[in-house]
Amino acid sequence: MGDSAPVTLITGGATRVGAAIACELADAGFDIVIHYNRSEEAACETAAKIEAKDRKAWRVRANLLDSDAPTRIIEYVKSEAGRLDVLINNASIFEPDPAGSFSPDHWHRMFQINAVAPGALIEAAEGLLMGAPRGGVINLCDISADRPWPHYSAYCASKAALVNLTRSYALRFAPRVLVNGVAPGIAIFPDDFDEEMRRKLVAKVPMQREGSAEEVAATVRFLAKHAGYMTGQIIRVDGGRSIA
Ligand SMILES: NC(=O)c1ccc[n+]([C@@H]2O[C@H](COP(=O)([O-])OP(=O)(O)OC[C@H]3O[C@@H](n4cnc5c(N)ncnc54)[C@H](OP(=O)(O)O)[C@@H]3O)[C@@H](O)[C@H]2O)c1
Repeated sequence: MGDSAPVTLITGGATRVGAAIACELADAGFDIVIHYNRSEEAACETAAKIEAKDRKAWRVRANLLDSDAPTRIIEYVKSEAGRLDVLINNASIFEPDPAGSFSPDHWHRMFQINAVAPGALIEAAEGLLMGAPRGGVINLCDISADRPWPHYSAYCASKAALVNLTRSYALRFAPRVLVNGVAPGIAIFPDDFDEEMRRKLVAKVPMQREGSAEEVAATVRFLAKHAGYMTGQIIRVDGGRSIA
């Protein structure tokens, strides 16, 4: 491992919260592996921002609906970066339950991307993480895991599964690798939420505003760099929404 910089892999790292985490961790001294699926152009732009900070950036494309994607991604990290210090499970899909009828396909996709793929990535990365001087896993959860929304049952249940697997892997990987989560409230609205919907949701937040990708990324940085005596914990970054 010599004196090379620590390496983090960020799934869905090309855009939005993932891209903010990539920039924040580059500022913190990490070299970055950006995983993406559809956002090729954004992945190149985010990689260029990291390189402008004099850090290394690699890009790996994979559809996390493919069952062999997690092992392929970790093999890429091993061969190209040669080490993995922090795995960040950020990729996600957020969709309402289809109206009218139960859809097994919808539930399958939600669980595959939001819970199964993160679990498979953690398993595939175990050897690399155990070999790191300060190995860590950070899972991007959601405050809706505890207080579900009625029309997003599959999404909320999949994030609740992610919270639970954060705790089980924290136990399994202790004491060498710390496994924690960050649960945003409103960081960046989905593009299809209209103004009225946004106003209604912000009105329920004690801090009376939406958050930002940068505020989530700052919390991820704290966990990646300073969580010396924390494992199995989920930090909420939600302007107080979860206590209101
Ligand atoms: N935004 C918020 O306010 C908020 C609130 C609560 C929790 N969170 C959590 O914070 C994290 C980041 O939020 P976000 O809003 O930035 O996420 P997002 O934009 O909804 O999704 C992040 C990335 O996930 C990747 N992804 C989706 N389906 C994939 C697939 N089949 N294979 C591989 N990658 C796939 C996409 O990569 P490509 O674009 O490359 O396809 C996408 O850019 C998520 O885990 C989310 O659940 C966010």
